[in-house]
Amino acid sequence: PGCRREWIAVDGPAGAGKSTLARALARALGFRYVDTGAMYRAAALAALRAGLLAHEPIDADAVVRLVKRLDIRIGTEPEGDRPAPVYLDGEDVSEAVRSLEVGQAASAIARLAGVRRILAGLQRRLAEAGPCVMEGRDIGTVILPEACVKLYVTASLEERARRRARELAADVPGAGDPGGSEAGVEAVMRELARRDRQDSSRETAPLMVAPDAVTLDTTGQDLASVLQRALAICRERLGGG
Ligand code: DC
Repeated sequence: PGCRREWIAVDGPAGAGKSTLARALARALGFRYVDTGAMYRAAALAALRAGLLAHEPIDADAVVRLVKRLDIRIGTEPEGDRPAPVYLDGEDVSEAVRSLEVGQAASAIARLAGVRRILAGLQRRLAEAGPCVMEGRDIGTVILPEACVKLYVTASLEERARRRARELAADVPGAGDPGGSEAGVEAVMRELARRDRQDSSRETAPLMVAPDAVTLDTTGQDLASVLQRALAICRERLGGG
């Protein structure tokens, strides 16, 4: 009653399996897929390149001024099992935004209320354009609080680190990737724990479970069973079969 049936919010910590689930759900429902983390990553890449994140504390005004000028676009077709394409001022940065460094930088600039306001505007506009599964940290709580279906996807820190390490190894073949090795998993685990802390403790739109969200723990679960549970929740919330 009153909620928006064409919006599905998927939130949760890094590496919980949000993207895989959100993409599969979008495919199953014929909705677009919107990865809001990719927007934070694109903005962070631009800030890194501009040298704005080299020293603490970061100059919030300078970062916000920069982000305001950026043209950030993301692909919304939930095709395949690859991350959505990301464009920064016309440049394809899909590969560049997937590094650990950019992930940490994204988490750092995501603390800035000015940055969040700019990206929230883009996200809201994308959602108003038609049905979508939108993935992030604050979708069910802040961006699309009217969504009928809200999923909070989580998994144990160890499992999330293992998955992230595998993804990184697949994304950046060759030198310097931390995937596979035990030390690599350990490094990713430390990075994830740091990012969880940062994303959950910030003042503006922290990562938290929306009161009307359903939590899906994906630890030890394959995509098929998680997707099945998610689709059952959609049917329950949306009614009609
Ligand atoms: O989901 P991801 O790892 O691509 O996100 C990168 C960072 O961006 C994440 O650590 C926090 C931030 N983020 C956010 O604050 N709000 C969102 N809706 C999505 C991402």
